[in-house]
Amino acid sequence: MSTSLDTSAFLPAYDAASPENQVKLLYAWLATKPLELYAELRSQRPILVSPGPVLLTRFADVEEALSRNLVFTVRPYAPKMDPSVGPFMLARDGTVYNQRDKGILRALIQQSDMDGVRAQVAALAKTAIAEGASSDGRLEIVSQLTRLVPVRLTGAYFGFSGPDDATMMRWSYATQNDMFHNLTDDPAIHQANLEAGREMFIYLNNILPGRRQRVASDPKADDIVSRLLRLETPPSIGFDQARLLSNIMGLLVGGVETTSAAAVQAIDVLLDRPGPLAQAITAAKLNDLATFDRLFWEALRFWPMNPFIVRQSVAAYTIAAGTERETTLPANSLVLCATASAMHDATVVKNPEAFDPNRPAYHYLHFGYGEHVCLGDQVSLQQTPELARQVFLAGYTKRAEGPAGRPDFKGGSFPESLTLVRG
Ligand code: HEM
Repeated sequence: MSTSLDTSAFLPAYDAASPENQVKLLYAWLATKPLELYAELRSQRPILVSPGPVLLTRFADVEEALSRNLVFTVRPYAPKMDPSVGPFMLARDGTVYNQRDKGILRALIQQSDMDGVRAQVAALAKTAIAEGASSDGRLEIVSQLTRLVPVRLTGAYFGFSGPDDATMMRWSYATQNDMFHNLTDDPAIHQANLEAGREMFIYLNNILPGRRQRVASDPKADDIVSRLLRLETPPSIGFDQARLLSNIMGLLVGGVETTSAAAVQAIDVLLDRPGPLAQAITAAKLNDLATFDRLFWEALRFWPMNPFIVRQSVAAYTIAAGTERETTLPANSLVLCATASAMHDATVVKNPEAFDPNRPAYHYLHFGYGEHVCLGDQVSLQQTPELARQVFLAGYTKRAEGPAGRPDFKGGSFPESLTLVRG
């Protein structure tokens, strides 16, 4: 992805287009050059009310919308999530599904587990790299590492290992692709999601009774599913078997393609920046995780996993009230909260086009903001940079020649391949 910001290239074409084409143009630009589009919008039209979605590009407005979750709701997710994994925390605002389920899951995913998670990821990654490297010294990181390790960590830490890696990858891909990337409502993509949900449901429903028995007799079983199965909650709060299944499925749905994309995209950005790359390699070798991780998350800011987070407003709302850009949005607006843009907003993020790994953590919105901030944030803060660190530690610090050495999305929503060679 190009990170050079060619401004003043979008709005003249946008303003000259018909309403229908304006929406098409917006989605095409969002898919191909979001950061360039956002730079122009931030300076010229920071709140863009199009005939389709509204785009919020300033840091303050993105945080405002994402924190007013009873106005800017997660309703758009429900038609994709409900029929696949059941009512889920991310498709419900201010309800028991979010408050109770997220509260319970947050209590089970413990901060004190995180050193262990990091060690698990390191070990899984070392094995995956050793097995995945070809005899001529090339490593294709998506199939051999960045999808594989999160699937295996979903087994090792979360306790949902599934029938095999390939099935878990298929379930994860099908659900993520429909729930977060099927903006045009392609029925084949939706169908694949429904089938994955049904298969996961049957699989989990079959294995959980046996797991429950094993957990009861094995005090050492201490992954998240084991903790869930040991948990006794009063019937009055309704955290029943259906809730268990839904939340276990969510651990896979949320955790694989997100992690893979973030790892690939941050590695890609680092490979284009010799200074930060050299610092990252040194920090990796010195086991200086704090420095390595800061370089990693700053790199991801230049190609964020999420160009925006989708919300639907349910009431009229005046955003950025009292500022020059104050705008009243009607009820039922589809609002794209451009977290990727917010992280480059110079009114909040100092010198945003400079690569500066010493920014405060609150300038990074990689995991969203507000009530729906990522449930897997603590795990991801360990897992995602560790994947990159292991790639560099194994010596894969250069792109393979030609197109193989560039991330290839193969026309889809996620990076499908990136081949590296030893530096
Ligand atoms: C680098 C990796 C990841 C990134 C960049 C990421 C990003 C995000 C973002 C942006 C959101 C907010 C969505 C919204 O507000 O609409 C979110 C929510 C969520 N994520 Fe992640 N995620 C990652 C890894 C994971 C992992 C490993 C899990 C496994 C537990 C997970 C589970 C979830 C869940 C369950 C939610 C919904 C939370 C809620 O509704 O309250 N994510 N994630």
